[in-house]
Amino acid sequence: MSAFRIFACAICVAVATLIGIGRASAEDGHELWLRYRPVADAATAAYRQSASELVVTDNSPTIAVTQAELVKGLSAMLGKPLPVVSAVTQDGAIMLAVTGKAKVISDLRLPVAGLGNEGFVIRSATWQNHKVTVIAGNTDVGVLYGAFRYLRQIQTAQSTANLNISDKPRVQIRVLNHWDVLGRGSANSAGQSIWDWPKLPAWKDPLYTDYARANASIGINAVVPNQINADPVMLSPMYLRKLAALADVLRPYGIKMYLSVQVTSPMTVGGLKTADPLDPAVKKWWADKVSEIYTYIPDFGGLLVKADSEGEPGPQSYQRTQADGANVLADALKPHGGILFWRAFVYSNDPKWDRVKQAYDTFKPLDGKFRDNVIVQVKNGPLDFQPREPFSPLFGATPKTNIGMEVEVVKEYLGGATHLFYLGAYWEEVLQADTYAKGKGSTVASVIDGSVFKNKLTGFAGVANIGTDRDWCGSTFNQANWYSFGRLTWDPHASARAIAEDWAAMTFTPDKAFVGPVVDMMMASREADVDFMMPLGLHHQFATGHHYGPEPWGNTAGREDWNPVNYNRADKDGIGYDRTTATGTNYAGQYKPQVAAVFNDLKRIDDKDLLWFHHVSWDYKTKAGLPVWDDLVRHYDRGVGEVVAMEKIWAEMKPYVDTDRFAKTTVFLQMQEKEAKWWRDSSIAYFQSVSGRPLPEGIAPPEHSLDWYKELNTSLKVPVYPF
Ligand code: GCU
Repeated sequence: MSAFRIFACAICVAVATLIGIGRASAEDGHELWLRYRPVADAATAAYRQSASELVVTDNSPTIAVTQAELVKGLSAMLGKPLPVVSAVTQDGAIMLAVTGKAKVISDLRLPVAGLGNEGFVIRSATWQNHKVTVIAGNTDVGVLYGAFRYLRQIQTAQSTANLNISDKPRVQIRVLNHWDVLGRGSANSAGQSIWDWPKLPAWKDPLYTDYARANASIGINAVVPNQINADPVMLSPMYLRKLAALADVLRPYGIKMYLSVQVTSPMTVGGLKTADPLDPAVKKWWADKVSEIYTYIPDFGGLLVKADSEGEPGPQSYQRTQADGANVLADALKPHGGILFWRAFVYSNDPKWDRVKQAYDTFKPLDGKFRDNVIVQVKNGPLDFQPREPFSPLFGATPKTNIGMEVEVVKEYLGGATHLFYLGAYWEEVLQADTYAKGKGSTVASVIDGSVFKNKLTGFAGVANIGTDRDWCGSTFNQANWYSFGRLTWDPHASARAIAEDWAAMTFTPDKAFVGPVVDMMMASREADVDFMMPLGLHHQFATGHHYGPEPWGNTAGREDWNPVNYNRADKDGIGYDRTTATGTNYAGQYKPQVAAVFNDLKRIDDKDLLWFHHVSWDYKTKAGLPVWDDLVRHYDRGVGEVVAMEKIWAEMKPYVDTDRFAKTTVFLQMQEKEAKWWRDSSIAYFQSVSGRPLPEGIAPPEHSLDWYKELNTSLKVPVYPF
């Protein structure tokens, strides 16, 4: 390029900057909600007044990353480098203070006593004749969380004057489960794995640090990096070294390393003849193996196990209980302070057994039999992360067992990467559901935060939606699911709407004209997918092979536990799965009487749960006053309309969003509309063929024949957008 052209370009850039062109410049989403863009000019002066310098007196690795984050964030947002000093020199100092190391905490009598190991106080005060803001915690990790909270205050355009914020997590272990297969592949639509196992431990990709920062900013403090259907090689010294290197990167951010293992490891790795949990050689093998892990990772968090499920072996093979299986591992972990997550996702494909009853039937009788360092990890619903499920009846059923919740942050069944589906709204519905475990108000949130049964150990797990895409999650709005998952693990009672507001402000702009409509759109997005996929309590209607797209006719020999027809039970007379106490499988009876009474009673049950619990005739009148056939069809159609409405809202947001992220979301919404029509039309075509009913007035016939949709599915071997 000639000198003149370079000069001319420089002028163009300068002019463009002056007149504001390029303000909405291209972004790839990699910075997530930690973008730290300059605040509005009018606000800068006030923020600068309370952020003039950073006082750091400690030098732990966690304080070092806290300092780095505050310097990065505040310098960028306030347009002025933030000096780091070792003592207060001026008004507006921000002080990092750890109990026992910083005098300011006792001088100001900051209320750190009840904060535990991870809580923090942020307090504006006068100290040594200067106006200061103290970010204090009992540990340096508490201070790190406080720093992210302080940054959020500015990112969401809140004042930093007169601060008096105090917070602590309500759940102890807040964990991401990466269902990543080795060799960088990934399961369940999360893209390619971010773990570069082939190059670890030598090469620690900087991506890991950004990953840790993002997690710490939302309170996640634990990671299981490997597949739930675990590869035994992870227990080999070679992989333990890799794991240890990763743990070193995550540690300053308060994140502990866990590992998913198979119960047959004593055989596959150890060469024993059995994996019977009560066999003394097996016990010894686990104790030795766990001790070995701790030599690599002294603060190792613990293990996660999937047993007796979908081909994964388990204690049932030795006629032992799930508690027997869990306790041998719990005992091995106990001397090291380790925790065991043992999943309740146990089921067989015996067609006589209603699959949704199996976890409760298996685990309820074992209440009190698990060691105190075991958390039984229960999926939010009894089936498998469907668009809507009633909460699992195991929540509130086991007073003497630590029960943790597992959700899918990845949208395995919910449109993969593309659909705009804000899961915060979904999880809030589950968390706010009342189990009646100890009378009214015993919500699922109160069960998993330990308050209902006074559990000493609590956990909340999410299957990660993180991969090597530049924007980590495949779409900008999927980032909201990672974000809201973290925030809800910190406080399961929090409002999904308030979390979405923070996310939208931090990820795009705090301008209310943007945040308001976008958050409304996010909150409505969940019901849109329910409507066009599986309305009125339908479930498991996706293509059996790859969990993407509709297949209500799916019926593969020998897979009764997976077949959509087994779940919709539609025939010429009616539709729905009878799980009532009187005439059905009595799944409803697994709930406390107050809950069961509602689910069992056609007069009381909400339309949204209808076909989950009842088989009704096509003429049955729903609460909407329509025959169920008409109501079903209208829901499918409404779902498409809801996606179109989202497209309209998004189009109006163009002035607030950079070009690339705007364009990607626009295209994804168009794809979602096409897929919504696919779900609607193929479902209507199938149920019409079964019921023989005419289409309700005003509903257009499906675009293609049922055979066309069947043909399409046979050609889809993997989850791909087919249009
Ligand atoms: C789903 C998912 C599997 C996963 C399983 C589980 O069925 O499709 O990939 O292994 O859940 O929760 O273990």
